[in-house]
Amino acid sequence: MSRLTLSTLALIPLLAACGDKGGDDTGGAVDADLATAQDIWSEIAGYDSWNQTADWTGIQESADGTHGSHVQIWLNDLAYDTIEAGAGGDMPDGAILVKEGYSDSSGASLNAITAMKKISGFDSEHGDWFWVNYSEDGTVNMYGSESACYGCHESGQDYVRFTTW
Ligand code: HEC
Repeated sequence: MSRLTLSTLALIPLLAACGDKGGDDTGGAVDADLATAQDIWSEIAGYDSWNQTADWTGIQESADGTHGSHVQIWLNDLAYDTIEAGAGGDMPDGAILVKEGYSDSSGASLNAITAMKKISGFDSEHGDWFWVNYSEDGTVNMYGSESACYGCHESGQDYVRFTTW
């Protein structure tokens, strides 16, 4: 057996481990969550024509640079209407917020597209938010109940960081 074959074989368990990008779920739940992540990609098609808030229209400097030096944020109608109403409380079931993160002020270099969707009953301990990180072509990089996301977002109103309402 050649050295190449051996090293290729050694990679297989590693690749299998990388394939499981879901949060804390195991077994079938991971597949269900991946399907949800892919459904959300379809649901947010054309998000760049969604509403933005007056304070966060177009490309803005990020507060902390986590998602890139600059970001742009869009809201589906449920999320936008909640913010515009300014009545406080939590986001309703079905609310979606989408963000592009860039490493430059013009938005030429897109790091990732991230989204958060409120799915009632999905993760009640963490605000029922489903988190996703996509590449530009829709490849799902992270998804589900992600402590890497809600751990930082929990300081916001109902886990939303860019504004309050
Ligand atoms: C260390 C802190 C931190 C982590 C970790 C983090 N975010 Fe964020 N996120 C922010 C901040 C701050 C904003 C507000 C925009 C800005 O200033 O960049 C934001 C904005 C967003 C927004 C726009 C709505 C909002 O809440 O303002 C989405 C969607 C989002 N993040 C998704 C994610 C996802 C998905 C993950 C995990 C893969 C994640 N974030 C991890 C800090 C974080």
